[in-house]
Amino acid sequence: MSTQTFVVRKDRLQSSELRSLPAAPLAEGQVRVHIDSFALTSNNITYAAFGEAMNYWRFFPVVGADGAAWGCIPVWGFGTVAESRHPDIAVGERLYGYFPMASSVDLTPARLSPLSFSDSAPHRAELHPVYNQYTRCSADPFYTAESEDLQSLLRPLFTTSWLIDDFLADNDYFGAAADPNTHPLMLLSSASSKTAYGTAFQMAQRSGIEVVGLTSARNVAFCESLGCYSRVLSYEQLGEIAADAPAIYVDFAGNAALRKALHAHCTRLAYSSSIGGTHVSELGGGRDLAGPKPVLFFAPAQIKKRSGEWGPQLLGQRLVEAWQQFLATVGDKQRPWLQVQRHSGEAAVAAVAAAYLEVLAGQGDPRTGHILSL
Ligand SMILES: NC(=O)c1ccc[n+]([C@@H]2O[C@H](COP(=O)([O-])OP(=O)(O)OC[C@H]3O[C@@H](n4cnc5c(N)ncnc54)[C@H](OP(=O)(O)O)[C@@H]3O)[C@@H](O)[C@H]2O)c1
Repeated sequence: MSTQTFVVRKDRLQSSELRSLPAAPLAEGQVRVHIDSFALTSNNITYAAFGEAMNYWRFFPVVGADGAAWGCIPVWGFGTVAESRHPDIAVGERLYGYFPMASSVDLTPARLSPLSFSDSAPHRAELHPVYNQYTRCSADPFYTAESEDLQSLLRPLFTTSWLIDDFLADNDYFGAAADPNTHPLMLLSSASSKTAYGTAFQMAQRSGIEVVGLTSARNVAFCESLGCYSRVLSYEQLGEIAADAPAIYVDFAGNAALRKALHAHCTRLAYSSSIGGTHVSELGGGRDLAGPKPVLFFAPAQIKKRSGEWGPQLLGQRLVEAWQQFLATVGDKQRPWLQVQRHSGEAAVAAVAAAYLEVLAGQGDPRTGHILSL
């Protein structure tokens, strides 16, 4: 038996190849998980773009002499235990978690509970525990078999969306909502991204704020069709934002020129939250920026705060309720926000490379969500 792994050049993300390696025998305490399917979105491209700085390459190191130059991008998806040398994990168990773009992965489960376990492989010991945790589907309140694809595509993103909305409200919009006569503007870049529209979905349920989507001209109609933005502008229409309105920038694009223009235009910008970098070829620092210094959004900090205030159980319950509401809207059979494109069978391997290049270039239909397997 061999493992297929999709790898990319760390310094030239357009270069990719598929590698096949014979599977080594499992060590005592390990399990071999067959990766059934995984999602690929811009979030995974960010893992690659920040692979070195934020250690994403270290989760699934590429074996071999050229392992420094090539990396394996982490993805979210579902797998099934195919072989087990762990006394408490049976063959056939279904798992959700952070996987390599590969056909299988070997894990060393530790800290088992009915809901989850952690991979205790030595090379992952210093990496963020959120990514080392595997959820056991049989006890997972988020899990339903029919929503697996949407879970892979949206669950990690929506959790962030929910936390961004909660964080801004929790901080009284950093003073932007203080004037009772004006609704502060929440300005979301890359408004067509799944994480942005999850955020807009949550924000639209609140009163007293106006949610404005900023996107490429070709994605304006898509963003308008979602119905969660009160207004959608193309990047070229930035000047149409009322310059003197209190505002918050929620930046999913990471585009340095756009950030600079928006900071200069919005004279009452109360806060600038840096979430991601979908515009991978336009990233850059925040030098000579007018207004507040952008602050990197760190989701685990808000989880920790709410977990302390509400307790982990209530926090979990609120997240599950919001997720179910979001899922019902996104997967609405009459007006779906997302159309899952599943690639399987003979053509699946070629589809991985094609989908990867499409997501990397950001030129695909924002309504499409790729579900892949190797
Ligand atoms: N900090 C966190 O904890 C956290 C968690 C989750 C996600 N994120 C970040 O949120 C962002 C969105 O992720 P996602 O997975 O939701 O994205 P997605 O749905 O795959 O986003 C697709 C959209 O991103 C823009 N885009 C993508 N690639 C591009 C390119 N090469 N050039 C120009 N535009 C491009 C386009 O939107 P427009 O035309 O509208 O610009 C495109 O429609 C990512 O940067 C991700 O890292 C951060």
